[in-house]
Amino acid sequence: MIYLGIESTAHTFGIGIVDDKLPKEKKIIANVKDSVTTKTGGIIPAKAADHHVEVCDAVLRNALVKANLKLEDVDVIAYSQSPGIGHCLRIGAMFARTIALKYNKPLVGVNHCIAHLEIGRLVTEAKDPVLLYLSGANTQVIAYEGKKYRIFGETLDIGIGNFIDCFARELGLGFPGGPIVEKLARAEIENNPTENKTPHYVELPYCVKGMDVNFGGILTNLKQKIKHMNAHKKEHQTKEHTHCYYTKESLCYSAQETVFAMMVEVAERALAHCDKKELLLGGGVACNKRLQEMCEKMCKARGAKMFVPANEFLIDNAAMIAWLGLLQYKAGDKLKIEDAGIKPYLRTDDIDVAWR
Ligand code: ATP
Ligand code: FE2
Repeated sequence: MIYLGIESTAHTFGIGIVDDKLPKEKKIIANVKDSVTTKTGGIIPAKAADHHVEVCDAVLRNALVKANLKLEDVDVIAYSQSPGIGHCLRIGAMFARTIALKYNKPLVGVNHCIAHLEIGRLVTEAKDPVLLYLSGANTQVIAYEGKKYRIFGETLDIGIGNFIDCFARELGLGFPGGPIVEKLARAEIENNPTENKTPHYVELPYCVKGMDVNFGGILTNLKQKIKHMNAHKKEHQTKEHTHCYYTKESLCYSAQETVFAMMVEVAERALAHCDKKELLLGGGVACNKRLQEMCEKMCKARGAKMFVPANEFLIDNAAMIAWLGLLQYKAGDKLKIEDAGIKPYLRTDDIDVAWR
């Protein structure tokens, strides 16, 4: 059977196609997307929705060409139903209903966060992992216990990617900020100006509360430091000025070290609590090589295995929506057209997992 997935929770509109009869490593036969990017500022919900309306036909056409299929050949339509930005989700749901009605195909609504986990189980060897899910809007540590994907720790305010993007915006770096911040942090490690060549760590608040984290305070602190840096640029470029020696590079390095350490700490406690031996990474922020390095070290130290899907499956993608659609459809899940709406605020642990 052929499953078509539609992703539209935030900045990305994507179409993924899965062919069930092919072997595990070949099942994904198309994974096409078009994402909103900006030179300055973040994403505006209504503008992102306009973007999705503009690109949806072309993305669908490209995916079908890639898979060498026609819409008539598709058996099931899956779409991201929760959670996400209402404006954006609505476009995907409407697109899904339109195809389902026109071609008389069954519909499945899937949870975007769980899709990040399930695609990781498909494309890596992970079987029963703790998922460290770090994206723009979401920051959660998730594991399967008692028929549900339970959240063992999460952000109490903004998502970690959102934090990085806001920080990057303050530095004038554009959206998405993650890859640029990573590059500047790497520069601080590799060619920093201090004599002993150690990267300069700028002290920042460390915000772990039990199993949860928050980023608002760290962001405020960084904003103050950026203001300070911009106000006295010249003086701050010397190493004598150690009490407030901030550069773009040292701030990027210090921000990354701090928030990644917080996440690794919580992920490790979840592994210990659940007595699981696998850590799976998911979400756009998990593309970060420094984060991967820190997770790898932690896993090694406790005899666990780390799994990192290819970047294409870490960032928002529609292959994961098609794949979770397949798992749910096979477990008997099917939506009536009139029920195929959106659930922007549905949580990972609200969903009964019938397919495991
Ligand atoms: P979700 O809907 O799951 O919350 P999302 O819409 O935010 O996801 P993703 O593609 O999962 O989308 O993640 C985007 C985030 O990942 C952005 O905040 C971006 O800055 C961040 N990101 C991308 N690459 C890197 C990187 N190399 N290092 C750190 N962050 C990164
Ligand atoms: Fe995502």
